Amino acid sequence: MLIINIKQLVGIREETSLLKGKAMAELPYLDNAFLRIIDDQIVEYGEMKDLSEKGWDNEEQIDVAGQYVLPAWCDSHSHLVYAGSRETEFVDKIKGMSYETIAKNGGGILNSARLLNNTPEEELFHLAWQRLEEVKKLGTGAIEIKSGYGLTVEGELKMLRVIRKLQKESDVLIKSTFLGAHTYPSVFKDNHQAYIQQIIEEMLPVIAEEQLADYIDVFCEQGFFSVQETEQILEAGIRFGLKPKLHANQLHVSGGVQTGVKYKAISVDHLESIGEAEIDCLKESNTIATLLPSAAFFLRMSYPPARQMLDANLPLAIATDYNPGSSPSGNMPLLIALSCIQLKMTPEEAINAATINGAFAMELHNSTGSISRGKKANLILTKPIPSLAYLPYSFGSTLIDKVLLQGKWV
Ligand code: NIG
Ligand code: FE
Repeated sequence: MLIINIKQLVGIREETSLLKGKAMAELPYLDNAFLRIIDDQIVEYGEMKDLSEKGWDNEEQIDVAGQYVLPAWCDSHSHLVYAGSRETEFVDKIKGMSYETIAKNGGGILNSARLLNNTPEEELFHLAWQRLEEVKKLGTGAIEIKSGYGLTVEGELKMLRVIRKLQKESDVLIKSTFLGAHTYPSVFKDNHQAYIQQIIEEMLPVIAEEQLADYIDVFCEQGFFSVQETEQILEAGIRFGLKPKLHANQLHVSGGVQTGVKYKAISVDHLESIGEAEIDCLKESNTIATLLPSAAFFLRMSYPPARQMLDANLPLAIATDYNPGSSPSGNMPLLIALSCIQLKMTPEEAINAATINGAFAMELHNSTGSISRGKKANLILTKPIPSLAYLPYSFGSTLIDKVLLQGKWV
């Protein structure tokens, strides 16, 4: 298949490397371009003026005059498998209750855990499948999904099996993360070690045996998992072959960033509460800083200091954190707009953070995240727009016309 007369082909990369600091401002493109796809792969691209000499006249052609073509989004942090919803808490928050108070009253994550444990696996799959179909239409072609609303052996394994089934049946590229350490179940409120032992002795062996997860995550936060508890869980996860990705520094300066770096985490995510020390620590590491501004928006928190982090030459990814409590939206175009508006990232920086760097944060950079020969044909075709910056500028508008995932139209 040939896509021809592309107004601008965006995100072309001959070589795949994680983008840091200043390099994030560059988003290479070709004007008036074509793209050649065979089966599920990008095989060639170039300028329209060079197409006639290629001898591909008999191939199916799709003329997209006026459209921009971009790599599909890579959403590297989500909790897309969940049951029910939490709009009652949303209203409580409007009336002034804090996220922590809601959690202390048995709301928050525990509320979702109750709902999830009462939902059969098939129903959970169906709900997650619908959410995945929704975000596909918004251009998401790769996503990481976490467990963490089970908090029982049975519940956590159920969530991970749903993620694995999504992985098998969807054309979205999916990575799976075990987040048994999302919060302490009420019965273990005063006996943290007993729950940690359950994670280590009863959950992790089955997860490893059935290969249910790629990563291990912990909510390292005051009132949730301390640095010491986080370390204990990460060490066990690593023993079972899982690489760390961490919820770090969301609500407080928690030591999460330093812990993530110490254990060579692929990414540390959230980072609303960081300062110089955390930035310095990240500078010395290969850990990706993943920002989740839609959660900060939804919780009315201050945003992470993205510009300061870019000035320090850090690699940034952005992700939706799609979950029922702090970001009930998997909308990547809106996230990109928020990143431009609130994090003061340029459109190019935000798109790089949402594509190639997001792919790195899921170790999917050899398959997706850019327009490169040999990568998956995961593409977004925009409606006619005057410039790339028009995408985040007109926030809330649906400017995606079509999405191609693994060579098939969504
Ligand atoms: O990433 N911070 C911890 N976990 C989620 C929120 C979970 C919830 O409230 O259900 C997050 O924001
Ligand atoms: Fe999260």
